[in-house]
Amino acid sequence: MSIASRLPASPSGKASSSHPVSRSFLDTNLPLFDGSPYRVADFSPKTIRFGRKELELALHEMPGLQSLRKQYGGNKPLAGARITGSLHMTVQTGVLIETLTALGAEVRWTSCNIFSTQDHAAAAVVAGPTGTADKPSGTPVFAWKGETLAEYWWCTLQALAWPDDEGPTLLVDDGGDVTGLVHLGADLEARGVLPDASMGSHEEEKVVHALLRDVREERGDQYFTRMAARIRGVSEETTAGIHRLNQLVKAGSLRFPAINVNDSVTKSKFDNIYGCRHSLVDAINRATDVLLSGKRALVVGYGDVGKGSVQSLVGQHARVAVAEIDPICALQACMAGLDVVRIDDVVENTDLFVTATGNAHIIRAEHMKRMKHNAIVCNIGHFDTEIDMAGLEAMRRRGEVEKIEIKPQVHEWKFRDTRHGPDGKGHSILVLAEGRLVNLGCATGHPSLVMSASFTNQVIAQMDLHLRAESYGRTMVTLPKHLDEHVARLHLDAFGAKLTVLTEEQAKYIGVEVEGPYKSEQYRY
Ligand SMILES: NC(=O)c1ccc[n+]([C@@H]2O[C@H](COP(=O)([O-])OP(=O)(O)OC[C@H]3O[C@@H](n4cnc5c(N)ncnc54)[C@H](O)[C@@H]3O)[C@@H](O)[C@H]2O)c1
Repeated sequence: MSIASRLPASPSGKASSSHPVSRSFLDTNLPLFDGSPYRVADFSPKTIRFGRKELELALHEMPGLQSLRKQYGGNKPLAGARITGSLHMTVQTGVLIETLTALGAEVRWTSCNIFSTQDHAAAAVVAGPTGTADKPSGTPVFAWKGETLAEYWWCTLQALAWPDDEGPTLLVDDGGDVTGLVHLGADLEARGVLPDASMGSHEEEKVVHALLRDVREERGDQYFTRMAARIRGVSEETTAGIHRLNQLVKAGSLRFPAINVNDSVTKSKFDNIYGCRHSLVDAINRATDVLLSGKRALVVGYGDVGKGSVQSLVGQHARVAVAEIDPICALQACMAGLDVVRIDDVVENTDLFVTATGNAHIIRAEHMKRMKHNAIVCNIGHFDTEIDMAGLEAMRRRGEVEKIEIKPQVHEWKFRDTRHGPDGKGHSILVLAEGRLVNLGCATGHPSLVMSASFTNQVIAQMDLHLRAESYGRTMVTLPKHLDEHVARLHLDAFGAKLTVLTEEQAKYIGVEVEGPYKSEQYRY
């Protein structure tokens, strides 16, 4: 079923356009350039009200964003900024979006994952704090839970396609999809290459190239070049996006400055760890409701997300082991009392697999063939590359495995040719969120207080880029430490924490200023 048949036929208030009517994109039944002011799954008053109530509750738990609104709301430091965001369209993101608009920005938004949108949050953001279903006055959002890949990339294009064709001046990205689309489009234009679906090496790349081809045919061969030239900078939320930006920097092909929000301490050492500590078990419980105590779990990758995931499972008294490639992280796992193992050695007797590497081909189809009956397999890293879903899909096409939907984002994969299932027949495994990040596919992501720290960094990064993006050149920077400390400081009151104040003498003794920063850039926390 295409989204067009699931959505209000045509949201009111279509933007006028000087362009001819667009063709529809792949099988979405949606015009390539839709011109609609928003596309969300459910824009009923009931859903809007639910979203608004949740946004209000979240705001109370987001002291960093509250404080930015109080401090800067009057001055509108983001006036003139046109921000396109591609970041999970959750309740917490709703508070981020409304903070950006409260600070004067114009914003368009899409999600960075096909399953992570909370439809009531999307509806509330479109309606806005004072708008209604009949008279929305909020922010254009193009996102709904359960998009197809074609719909996902269509939504990304709509978030970039400002009605007057001028495009965004700033990007907020999570995982690098929107930055990547602009770069790929502009690079192909620069090389005079006509994009074509056949250039993609897998399904998603084919969709992206099909989108670029259609844009080229409708809007000519300078569309992304012009857009990239107008974008002054991007602030990137996650490790996966930072890897991609690093590659662009190394290749000398980054087209605008980037602020690395992920590596603010108050982001990666909080969201990636404590957020996942909260949301991994939340997701597994919502998806399966299986008792985790006493079960054998394997977490692959013991970086920040892996550490939070382990804490989450240990909290349930699961018996957790870790797989790592990095000796430092492996030794950290040993010091935490965990077994460090190889997946090949434990695949047959593990009940739950969690990938958290940000890498590819971690759990392969041949592993899944060997797993216990009803083993649970999920990924909490950003992309669906960690679990070999393409390999499973190929087996399904060959008739070697059957895919049975238990409920959306929870699938049983029943192997036909194995003999270790019930009654000596084929075994099954449960794959959550189709191999995409489980905490946003099967649950609602991280709690508001954690996201407050991440998003306070995002807003500070956006204000900084709006003020002086060009001073950075085409490279990637992190926010200075005093701002990181400021973000932390803004959240202490929420816990009733009383910070000790250095004396002048003590500050001198350890070689810092009384008001900070308190650590060197090298300090690892
Ligand atoms: N789901 C979420 O809410 C969420 C939140 C933040 C980040 N992320 C994503 O999670 C992923 C991990 O992020 P991170 O910040 O923990 O990164 P990280 O670099 O801190 O950790 C990744 C770890 O995986 C290890 N690793 C890499 N390849 C491996 C392999 N083949 N086998 C075993 N271990 C391997 C690395 O050595 C590293 O220690 C990224 O994709 C990131 O974007 C997800």
